[in-house]
Amino acid sequence: MNKHALAQWNIARAAIILVAFCASSAFAQKLQVEPIKPAEPAASAAAPAAGGIQSQSIFEVKPDASADPNYAKQSNAERQKVQPGNNAPIWRQAGQGVEGYTSLPKREAPEAGFLMQGVTQYPGSRLTNAGEAWRQVRNQVIIPYGGALLIIAALAIGLFYWRKGSIDLHAPETGKKIERFTYFERAAHWANAIAFCTLAISGIVMAFGRYFLQPVMGSTLFGWLTYALKNAHNFMGPLFAVSLVIVFFTFVRDNMPAKEDITWLLKGGGLFGGQEVPSHRFNAGEKVVFWGGVFALGLIVVGSGLVLDKLIPGLLYVRETMQISHMVHASAAMLMMAMFMGHIYLGTIGMKGAYQGMKTGYVDETWAKEHHELWANDIAAGKIPAQRTPPAVSSAHTVQV
Ligand code: HEM
Repeated sequence: MNKHALAQWNIARAAIILVAFCASSAFAQKLQVEPIKPAEPAASAAAPAAGGIQSQSIFEVKPDASADPNYAKQSNAERQKVQPGNNAPIWRQAGQGVEGYTSLPKREAPEAGFLMQGVTQYPGSRLTNAGEAWRQVRNQVIIPYGGALLIIAALAIGLFYWRKGSIDLHAPETGKKIERFTYFERAAHWANAIAFCTLAISGIVMAFGRYFLQPVMGSTLFGWLTYALKNAHNFMGPLFAVSLVIVFFTFVRDNMPAKEDITWLLKGGGLFGGQEVPSHRFNAGEKVVFWGGVFALGLIVVGSGLVLDKLIPGLLYVRETMQISHMVHASAAMLMMAMFMGHIYLGTIGMKGAYQGMKTGYVDETWAKEHHELWANDIAAGKIPAQRTPPAVSSAHTVQV
């Protein structure tokens, strides 16, 4: 293409671009949206026309509905007229314990019409509602004090172990084995122990997990974990209830109080210095755990737990019942966990040979003499059989009396 032609082409191109530019800016001007000017307040804004939703400009300045002297007393229907979507009157009524409409049968669901527990339901209550009272007791009493109790118990055990170490035998083992727990006793014990530990761990995560686990795991994972543990807790509860009853009746005979228990208690069993105090099959400390932990606290924790699991027939499961059961359950469970922390410590690292006894069923003669002298004496005297499981059943260990 010669020079002349090239020049003509460039001029033509520039002309096309110019025309295109003018055309598009004219089109853009056409698209431009007129800025919306605020409309003048219409004379009739205060009283919107009766019936039906009026299309209103969102920029319309409305008179302040709350200026109405009857504002606080407005019913929800009245409030919807002046402030659509504001249903504060419903919540105010719910907070006052006003019963709303529900299609649920009153007998089965006596509370269904009460969105919140109001003052009217609980004469003499100083708090706005029982739900709030429960929440405060849980968050300001049970959680902080229960948590403190568990930490103090753990620290006390740690300190004891640090200062005293494991309780060991003074004399060497003779090698002669005495049967301390039969198969049945051990099976009952471990079924109970496993159920208890599952309940304790899941209970601790549900109560305290948000303070020490959620910040580490994040909400999603923590949510899943607590959901799984809550279900494990609900299922393990009834198993614990059954095994606890079996453990109670299995060990009750040897946990009956004896006169020697007083000496044992007065001297703290010799645990804090001095000679160990003679005791029968179970010493006074174990008997305190048995009657205080297995029986008393066990009964309260299981009873309130079964209510929370809605497993007691004929009971009216209203919120008040659940709140009271929860407070009782959580408090008794904290006490029981603190108590059994001591039992578990002595039953694992705290006393040499104890764990073996509950694992294999047998303890050494020396162990029996040093820790349960009166029991060992009764066996030596033949008052108590050294072996209760028929020899055919227990192959490995026989007693060389
Ligand atoms: C991991 C948890 C546990 C461990 C390691 C453990 C360990 C032991 C051990 C070693 C003994 C034998 C003590 C002795 O020879 O005198 C024992 C006895 C016993 N344990 Fe446990 N235990 C645990 C949990 C529980 C729980 C949760 C309960 C009941 C709620 C319980 C109730 C008993 C009873 C009733 C005895 C028989 C002694 C007595 O009646 O005082 N244990 N345990």
